[in-house]
Amino acid sequence: MSTDRDHEKYLAAKEAVKYVSNNQVVGLGTGSTAFFAIQEIGRLVSEGLSVRCVPTSNRTKELAESLHIPLVDINEVESIDVTIDGADEFTTQLRLIKGGGGALLREKIVASLTRRQIIIVDSTKKVDVLGRFPLPVEVVPFASQYVLRQLKQKNGVGKIRMADTQPYLTDQGNQIIDTDFGQIADPVKLSIALKSIEGVVGHGLFINLAHKVIMGVAASGSTITYE
Ligand code: A5P
Repeated sequence: MSTDRDHEKYLAAKEAVKYVSNNQVVGLGTGSTAFFAIQEIGRLVSEGLSVRCVPTSNRTKELAESLHIPLVDINEVESIDVTIDGADEFTTQLRLIKGGGGALLREKIVASLTRRQIIIVDSTKKVDVLGRFPLPVEVVPFASQYVLRQLKQKNGVGKIRMADTQPYLTDQGNQIIDTDFGQIADPVKLSIALKSIEGVVGHGLFINLAHKVIMGVAASGSTITYE
C-alpha cells in the first residue's frame, strides 16, 4: 500500500464487500475508494461469485469490464441489493457530500434504487458539519451562468469545474459548479433549495440515502462502521 489513506480505503472496501453475496444486483461506485471494492468484487467473480452489477460512471464501467464483472443496464432492474460507493465527506448522521469525481447524478440515481447503500471512506472524510468540501452542483450548460447567480443569492460561491481550458463535462454532458456554502447547517433545506433552481439536474448532498459508512483506520488496521 502506498499511503495510510490508501490502506484505509482498502480496509473499508474489503469490509464492505463482505455484504455482497451470490445472485445479487450490485451497484458499483466511482472514485479511488470504490476502485478497491471493484477490484475485490472482480477477484470474487473470478473465483465464481455470480452477481450483476450497475456501474455509476463510464469510468467504473470500463474498470468492471476489464475485470470481467458482469454488468446489467439499470433500466433492466427494479432495485439494487447493495451498492458500495465512496464519499467526499460524511457525518455520523450518515449525511454525505459526493461528486468530487463528477459522477454524482448517476451515483444518486443508483443509491435511490438501492436497498443497502454502503459508503466506504478513509478517515480524512469524517466531519462534524458538512461543507468543508465544495458542494458539486450539476447543471445543464445552457443554464450555467444563471445557476451561478442563483447560487450566489443563496450564499454559495460557485466555480465551474474545468478540465484544462474547457469546462469539465459529466457522463451526461453537463457541467459541474463546485460551490462553497461554508458550513451547511441545514443540508435538507439546502438540498430542496438547490433542486428548485431551473437548470440544476443534481447536487452532491446525499441525505437519507446511506445505510452504513465504513471508515478504514490505518493505525489499528481495522474499520469503524457508522449506521
Ligand atoms: C464520485 O463522483 C464521487 O462521489 C466519489 O464517490 C467521491 O468523490 C469519493 O472519491 P474518492 O473515493 O476518490 O475520494
